[in-house]
Amino acid sequence: MFDRSGNDYTSKTYWDSRFETEETFEWVADFKQFSALLTSELKPTDKILQIGCGNSKLCFELANLGFTQLTNVDFSSVLIDKYAVKYPEMAWICDDMRSLEHIPDDSFDVVIEKATIESLLAKEKSVWTFSDSAQADLRSTLAAIRRVLKPGGIFISISFTPPYFRVNYLVEQEWDVDVSEFGDGFHFYCYKMRKGLKPDLDKLERFLRVNKN
Ligand SMILES: C[S@@+](CC[C@H](N)C(=O)[O-])C[C@H]1O[C@@H](n2cnc3c(N)ncnc32)[C@H](O)[C@@H]1O
Repeated sequence: MFDRSGNDYTSKTYWDSRFETEETFEWVADFKQFSALLTSELKPTDKILQIGCGNSKLCFELANLGFTQLTNVDFSSVLIDKYAVKYPEMAWICDDMRSLEHIPDDSFDVVIEKATIESLLAKEKSVWTFSDSAQADLRSTLAAIRRVLKPGGIFISISFTPPYFRVNYLVEQEWDVDVSEFGDGFHFYCYKMRKGLKPDLDKLERFLRVNKN
């Protein structure tokens, strides 16, 4: 789904070796392109969890704007060990987003991911029908995010993936979704889901597709 270079974006080994040398890389879009969509939902006192942080500047951009209660998760221990020493003003936790086992229930006001869900699906042959294992990964990730959010907390996903390939899975897991599009030329998407809200199927109908299998 990302490129045809043969890189395995689902593999911890791939990311560990990449983060040994790579200083910074921004997937999807730079912060300024979507900052208004994101910060309109945030309060300075919010506890914010970013999953699959990578070496993006997103958490530093948020800190510069006064959002200081930031926790970053990635399954790459190379990245987390390096950043925990380099940036002690934030929390860095090595964890897998499919379980978030080191994060307590109901503990964050906001969960953010940018291009991390896509890395789970990077080996899929078709964007129309995911393999059973990819679907299981997606479901367990969404369940883990719901578990760690406080009641009424918000999950914000910044993504390459158009709604037609994303909203079905969110609705299946009982998330209501607000969809925004952004970007000049190439278009990207911001999905916002609030814990506790049930899907508004009338609103979402245009994004839902019938599974013909
Ligand atoms: C495509 S990169 C996106 C990085 C960053 N969010 C950005 O926007 O630039 C995917 C990131 O997710 C991490 N990742 C992939 N699968 C993960 C998993 N199962 N649990 C936690 N992190 C994961 C990778 O190590 C990598 O840092």
